[in-house]
Amino acid sequence: MRVTLLGWLATALGPALIASGVLLIATPGWGRGDEPQLRTTTKQLPTDGGLIPVVLPDPGIPGFTFPEAEHRILRWVRNNDQHSLSKHAWGLWTALNMPTDQCYEGQRLSVLETWVTPKDLQTLGNHAFSKSGRDPWPLTVLHQFSSLSGGGAVTGQTPDVLGFVKYDPTAAKHVLRYQLLSLANLTNLLQAGLTEIPPFPASALVLKIETFPWSTTRLVGGRYYALPAWPGPPDPPRDFPPDQSHWKQCIWVDIQENGPGTGTGRVDTVWNADGSSRTPETTYGLGRFIHFRRSATQAQLPNTVLRSPAPQGGTRAAAGDVVIVIGLHVTTKEIANWTWQTFWWTPDPDNPPPPSSTAIAACRPMQLQGAARHYAVAIGYSMVFPPGENSGGVYPSPQAQLRDSPSRVEPRRSNLGRSHVAESVYCYNPYIETFFTSAQLPASRPGTYLGRPVDNNVGVQTNCMSCHAQACFPIMLLPGGIFPLYTGDQNIDLYGPQFQGKLKVDFLWSINDDAS
Ligand code: HEC
Repeated sequence: MRVTLLGWLATALGPALIASGVLLIATPGWGRGDEPQLRTTTKQLPTDGGLIPVVLPDPGIPGFTFPEAEHRILRWVRNNDQHSLSKHAWGLWTALNMPTDQCYEGQRLSVLETWVTPKDLQTLGNHAFSKSGRDPWPLTVLHQFSSLSGGGAVTGQTPDVLGFVKYDPTAAKHVLRYQLLSLANLTNLLQAGLTEIPPFPASALVLKIETFPWSTTRLVGGRYYALPAWPGPPDPPRDFPPDQSHWKQCIWVDIQENGPGTGTGRVDTVWNADGSSRTPETTYGLGRFIHFRRSATQAQLPNTVLRSPAPQGGTRAAAGDVVIVIGLHVTTKEIANWTWQTFWWTPDPDNPPPPSSTAIAACRPMQLQGAARHYAVAIGYSMVFPPGENSGGVYPSPQAQLRDSPSRVEPRRSNLGRSHVAESVYCYNPYIETFFTSAQLPASRPGTYLGRPVDNNVGVQTNCMSCHAQACFPIMLLPGGIFPLYTGDQNIDLYGPQFQGKLKVDFLWSINDDAS
């Protein structure tokens, strides 16, 4: 019955801890007996009778495997093999966006849209794996932003972005099996002396979608929206959020054009709010965007409150509102520190600015077609290069060894005090991370970039893996709702003093944020 948890505890912690009371935290529901059955096909019901989360399908790209062997990915990282890394990230993206036979109110769902949110798991439990009536797009203010604006208040300081977190079925199963979204359970694990939660399986994939949801009342001429267009990182680096005063350029989305529209990859550098600077070359149809429309039912849901940058506050969603996916964070547990990649819409997908590149764009497989091909990707499979000790990448980490061969676990120690001179690896989404100021990244430390000293303390100097490595439970916020462990790019010591008395949550901030 409880073999899974105890097996993990035994290898991870030794028998002493089990003898000293960890048995008490093994509650019913952790056993393998009630494991949900996972579906392996995208062929599903064509009706609106509820959603079933499907496992990541094989996109049929030669050379792409999921989950890929950890040692292969780590070799790409060690050799700085950007070509293989890019191809892997694009393979994931292609698979995630494959269509399923499932629909929601007349709109066909992609693979990732069938997946479950932390809230779904909390309310549905194992029923989340069978057909269940769920909102495939439960938009809400993301914790990453709400914490900065004092718990979700509309401040105008944070991006006008709504989104949601989703787990693939195998990650979701792991969350349920170990009750990782139960505050009481996390507290029990911590009090029992554990330092980390059971590591996710290699097939775990977690994502965070970011959208620009526009109310129809904010259209120019009844049909056009101005979407800020990323100009590349500022020099010198500083906070650089997606708005007119910073980016100074936009493109126009025509919500009445379902095809590609007339855009040529050009951006509007004048950006008159009344649309007078719009030209056919800077106008793009919905066919170039991953998007969906709010239905009448959805507009009634409590989580569909839209925010507006205007001081008068948010507007509510209305039926027919077009919601465009501007960014999508994807992480997989194929390596101990997870693989990190982020996708964002870009007007000229063959030539995206940094942190992506023309070379990365050239690795898009031909299987990637349609709107999803109009996105750029940035990849961060290590925190710095060459990857540092205890920060994953150089050798199978203790966590991975534990998973693959429990008898050969490396001693766990801190590398604090050892100098590690390495190049910074920046990996951020222009629409999501660029607003971070140095005050909001208090755990940052200086580093090196292109051989020069850098502060690495603003959004365009962040690395997904560095900030997520800090994820632990519980967290006491600093005054102003600042997360003390948020950091720019640096080599995080996974056994450093910041984790003293904490439970590491396997790089997933959502465990800390969403447990209740
Ligand atoms: C400065 C800190 C920070 C940085 C940098 C950061 N994140 Fe996050 N991320 C968070 C926090 C906090 C959450 C919690 C959930 C939310 O925002 O709703 C989160 C949530 C997520 C999730 C949902 C799953 C989870 O439990 O964490 C994914 C996937 C994710 N981020 C990927 C990325 C990727 C990819 C990048 C880099 C392009 C990145 N993050 C950069 C702090 C960060």
